[in-house]
Amino acid sequence: MDILEIIAKKRDKHELSKKEIEYFVREYTAGNITDYQAAALVMAIYINGMTIEETTNLTLAMAYSGDVLDLSSVGNVVDKHSTGGIGDKITLILMPIVAELGVKVAKMSGRGLGFTGGTKDKLEAIPGYRTEIGIEEFKENVKKVGISLIGQTLNLAPADKKLYALRDSINCTANIPLISSSIMSKKIAAGANKIVLDVTCGSGAFMKNIKEAEELSKTMINIGKLANKETVCIITNMDQPLGKMVGNNLEVIEAIEALKGNIQEDVKNVVLELGAYILKLDGKGNNIEENKKIIEEIIKNGKAYNKFEELVKNQGGDISYIQDINKFEKAKYIVPVIAKKCGYIEKLNAEEVGKIAVNLGAGRIRKEDNIEYSVGIELLKKVGDSVVQGETLAYIHANDEEKGTKAVEELFELYKISEKRANKIPDILKIII
Ligand code: URA
Repeated sequence: MDILEIIAKKRDKHELSKKEIEYFVREYTAGNITDYQAAALVMAIYINGMTIEETTNLTLAMAYSGDVLDLSSVGNVVDKHSTGGIGDKITLILMPIVAELGVKVAKMSGRGLGFTGGTKDKLEAIPGYRTEIGIEEFKENVKKVGISLIGQTLNLAPADKKLYALRDSINCTANIPLISSSIMSKKIAAGANKIVLDVTCGSGAFMKNIKEAEELSKTMINIGKLANKETVCIITNMDQPLGKMVGNNLEVIEAIEALKGNIQEDVKNVVLELGAYILKLDGKGNNIEENKKIIEEIIKNGKAYNKFEELVKNQGGDISYIQDINKFEKAKYIVPVIAKKCGYIEKLNAEEVGKIAVNLGAGRIRKEDNIEYSVGIELLKKVGDSVVQGETLAYIHANDEEKGTKAVEELFELYKISEKRANKIPDILKIII
């Protein structure tokens, strides 16, 4: 087989065979196909697409490019994954909740890349928290406390690791066959039996409109069926950032507050919807509305918060930070963004907010960059809110005065304030089963 022929075939809009896809994934992972050859093929896929059969073959080849976890000793595992966004701290809140309700949680999360944040970085914002543990300790933790959240450190779907970085470097991320194979290969390799996917949609997501989000959802559900993993997709709004905080320490603080009952409305709606479906897939109740009530109760009675403390302690984290959020390091400069007129917030572009946060140091511009945990953005006003002249719209948390001043100016420009009452966008856009 020859990679040049495979590239030419896709370039000329032909369908690749299972053997050709397997050959590409195997040889690229082994380093026998160069990055520039792989980039040419990825670009051809991006432009000419893939059939569902090709996408499924790509997913399975990537899933089996490294280890595939056997979690049968742990029990039935329901996994959750988001297609990415800004201010997305859902895993930190949701997974302790469902763990407290008896769902086995064994979840791996990635670092932030591009303008989107990553749960691994947020976990590492908690001093001492170990995200890089071996498979045996991972399984033991789940058996002991019912939950373990770690980074993608095991040799799972290494083909995706290489391809994801390559796609990011050639601007070929936002593509349905490539996203669905990336996500589903990791989920299959991670050993989950059932999968709930948060498919984000809007300016801060890879899928910019509902039609694309539906197509991505249907593709992933199809792959799930073929791989014998029941999959549910919840399409959620990512047209503005989720919740109040963007940035690592800030988002952990927001998650702790949420688990203590002080939860932002949009975050709550996403947590309830995803959680209700996780409980359903785990056989803990078919009635979605009843499941939501159970989740609300577990937050209210403090048990979800206790489970989070237990998780952090078990992973080596310093729980005194969880018990007293004032211990988290604060940025040197906390600067308000002030409204210059009265009206209603009509728009707050999530992708642009994400870029401001990355430039402050909350994310990485290059893979090897270090992040600053204390910086970020605190949003006091969101779409639909009314505002009066002189009121604070948001705070910029910066460690560098110049970067902070620039961020204040940029965020000010992003807030679109109109005289007409602006409608809030629904948080849950569609559920696809
Ligand atoms: N999340 C992933 O894991 N992969 C993608 O391609 C996009 C979002």
